[in-house]
Amino acid sequence: MSSFTEVIAVVLAAGMGTRMKTDLPKVLCPVLGRPMIHFVIDALEQAGVTRVIAVVGYKADDVKAALSSRPMVDFVLQTERLGTGHAVKMARELLEGHVGPVVVVAGDSPLLQASSVKQLLEAYRREQPACILGTLTKENPTGLGRIVRDSAGEFLGIVEEKDATPEQREICEVNMSTYVFDGPQLLHALDKLQNNNKQKEYYLTDCPAILKREDKAVKALPILKPCEALSINTPDELSAAEVAMRELGYPC
Ligand code: UD1
Ligand code: CA
Repeated sequence: MSSFTEVIAVVLAAGMGTRMKTDLPKVLCPVLGRPMIHFVIDALEQAGVTRVIAVVGYKADDVKAALSSRPMVDFVLQTERLGTGHAVKMARELLEGHVGPVVVVAGDSPLLQASSVKQLLEAYRREQPACILGTLTKENPTGLGRIVRDSAGEFLGIVEEKDATPEQREICEVNMSTYVFDGPQLLHALDKLQNNNKQKEYYLTDCPAILKREDKAVKALPILKPCEALSINTPDELSAAEVAMRELGYPC
């Protein structure tokens, strides 16, 4: 679908998933009998992604082994988990010199839809923005990054719940970690990241605002499907994702 020779995706998969209460790294927890990260890679592949860089850390060898059947996947190691932006930075060497789109998604979102990634890639190809991200509106946005817009509806930034003002917490449009960056612009924004926030982490969520402040084109498109709100942090969320996947007719 893409006119770019190579469409790279970075999948964040270094976390432990403490709240899952298991020894397995979260991205290997089975959903409908398969490690959840496989569904993410399926969606990326179906959307036209040609190469995946998985950022691994916790039990890296287990994650690598579980993905050994997927030749399009390369691995980079994040030894210290200093945040989602720091995780993407680990892929710098492999992204250097890549001209074109870089999809960035989280490995804990097995309901990522190929159609959504395709839509974002098509918008990237049409408009050549520095960054474009998918959003959705959720009745209960607790725990998620909120999308801040100006009075004209233009994207301004993403604010994490822990850093949000009470007013910002009322926002129901959320970030689901589904981004397409222009490769060189992503590297530029990563260089500027700081960790002066409540969690003292390098947030990937700050990258779109960094680019926007430099007057580069950044778009937040409310195109994600309701099922894409079901990222997995707890056993209950895993069960909810399985119910939704069965309803959507995912292969078991
Ligand atoms: C993140 C987003 C938030 C969004 C939510 C759901 C940031 C700062 N926040 O929050 O806006 O609403 O996802 O999409 O990005 N990971 C690493 N290395 C790290 C930290 C995280 O690889 O150092 C991986 C985790 O394994 C996971 C993914 O990144 O697969 C997301 O991390 P998580 O801690 O779940 O982020 P959230 O707090 O959910
Ligand atoms: Ca998460």
